[in-house]
Amino acid sequence: MEIFIDTANVKEINKWLEYGIIDGVTTNPSIMFRDGIYDIEKGAKEIAHLIEPRPLSVEVTTNDLNEMLSQARQFAQWANNIVVKIPQITADGVPCYGVMKQLENDGLKVNSTVALSFGQVILAAKAGATYISIFAGRISDEGGNSPEVIRNSVDWLKRWNYKSKIIVASIRSVGDILNAALAGAHVITIPPEFVGKMADHKNTRESVKQFIKDAQKALDMMGNVKKT
Ligand code: G3P
Repeated sequence: MEIFIDTANVKEINKWLEYGIIDGVTTNPSIMFRDGIYDIEKGAKEIAHLIEPRPLSVEVTTNDLNEMLSQARQFAQWANNIVVKIPQITADGVPCYGVMKQLENDGLKVNSTVALSFGQVILAAKAGATYISIFAGRISDEGGNSPEVIRNSVDWLKRWNYKSKIIVASIRSVGDILNAALAGAHVITIPPEFVGKMADHKNTRESVKQFIKDAQKALDMMGNVKKT
């Protein structure tokens, strides 16, 4: 299983990269805006360079299918490791699978995003998407069973030999991460604060504190023994 980080914050990306934890980065226009990246080209180029050869997902910012195609082609020229994010449907419900198909046919890598159902996953796989992002948190928001959608999708892709990898996104807790891992996600993209929470445990901190204290006591005893 791979771990991607769902952020455009370069400091965080650098930190988790140095820890050897992350295999890629995902963004969307809201993440870019929240993390203070207003010039998408400049920001994407910087992150892509920082993490290469790992993939960086950058999302199109238009509701028009033709514009999606030209934007995606432009984004892909910024760096070799850029994966273009295309939504399942436009804001008006027009399917974007034709855009995905053309881009994959051109040799670009597509992250088919905002998948909220198993049905959408099937269509994105048929369209040849390299990655399909299931938004676990947004499925749960509506009372849906996100682990079931993830499990069904991963099993179906395997049964019929599709190349698409499931990225589980829209992570809102460490519990979401563990559920996605147990459901068989190929990739989980995690906001940095939850990677930190996943590492932490108060009893681990307490144990380490105790070990250091006892090690110091042992050193003190050695000093005392030498003096006598
Ligand atoms: O990667 C998708 C993610 O950023 C959306 O998360 O929590 O806004 O549903 P959320």
